[in-house]
Amino acid sequence: MKNNNIKNIMSNKTIFITGTSSGLGKSSAIYFAQNGWNVAATMRSPEKEKELIYYENIKLFKLDVTNPHEVTDAVNDAIDTFGKIDVVLNNAGVGTYGALELIDRTDINKALDVNVRGVTNVIMEFLPHFRQNSNGMFINISSVMGRSAALPLGSVYNMTKFALEGLIEGLYVELKPFNIDLRLVEPGGFYSEFVNNTSFAKGGTITAYDKITKIVEQQMMESTRKADTKKRDVIVKAIFKIATGRNKKFRTIVGNDAKTILTLRKILPIRMFLSFLVQSFKINK
Ligand SMILES: NC(=O)c1ccc[n+]([C@@H]2O[C@H](COP(=O)([O-])OP(=O)(O)OC[C@H]3O[C@@H](n4cnc5c(N)ncnc54)[C@H](OP(=O)(O)O)[C@@H]3O)[C@@H](O)[C@H]2O)c1
Repeated sequence: MKNNNIKNIMSNKTIFITGTSSGLGKSSAIYFAQNGWNVAATMRSPEKEKELIYYENIKLFKLDVTNPHEVTDAVNDAIDTFGKIDVVLNNAGVGTYGALELIDRTDINKALDVNVRGVTNVIMEFLPHFRQNSNGMFINISSVMGRSAALPLGSVYNMTKFALEGLIEGLYVELKPFNIDLRLVEPGGFYSEFVNNTSFAKGGTITAYDKITKIVEQQMMESTRKADTKKRDVIVKAIFKIATGRNKKFRTIVGNDAKTILTLRKILPIRMFLSFLVQSFKINK
């Protein structure tokens, strides 16, 4: 059945999700809908969506988070449709990998636009609604890369997710008086379209980074090959627990890989942690 019954289900809680065309965003939309929530599922090309249209409590909205006009329209349309949004899941994200010297500037800007400015756009647009309601929660998908250089050649992605963490931590005190909550989810690697959607700078006339590029590329391919959707389901359930108030943590780390790296990052002096990365990726000359 299509989205023709929205008015009848307006008493439920509603989540607004960015980037629901694939991966974690799509799985989250389905899980919340199956558990009785209304879902404002946003994506860049809703006309292409073939799965979410069959859930009567999911409504699609067109949204490229880098376009402020689309953000305004999608947020207003979702509020008009559902009356009230309880939780916003800032999920949309892109990867940019490669040695900095090789990365195209447009790819750096794209990563900053989606992962940092896009989240900022969505939060700014929702603040009047959340303040008016004296209630609301932003759940933000960061990464193990948001607090550690877990994978070499990820400096640009690191920069965007570190910036996201700064934005969210920085807003916490500012929004507390209005009962607006902010959370960070820090997953390790999981199966999605992420690697396919990631731009990986390599080759060209500079060969100095060939060795490390090969190592990192192999590691990415290996982890994609091993990954299954079970880990993604664990992350979705962790998000649901936060949205339903059963997890009060500011940061939620998901996955053993992320837990191990972030524990090492916490207990080791930074030089020792960075030396550990150099050793483990065998990148000494
Ligand atoms: N996969 C991992 O191993 C991993 C690990 C840690 C954290 N994360 C984070 O998890 C989140 C979800 O990623 P995923 O792994 O599920 O990857 P994914 O399958 O590639 O999903 C990313 C989503 O973001 C959307 N998106 C990209 N640019 C956008 C834009 N300008 N406006 C709106 N939506 C846009 C994509 O839509 P289109 O189809 O239109 O491109 C897609 O729906 C991201 O924030 C990512 O950084 C992923």
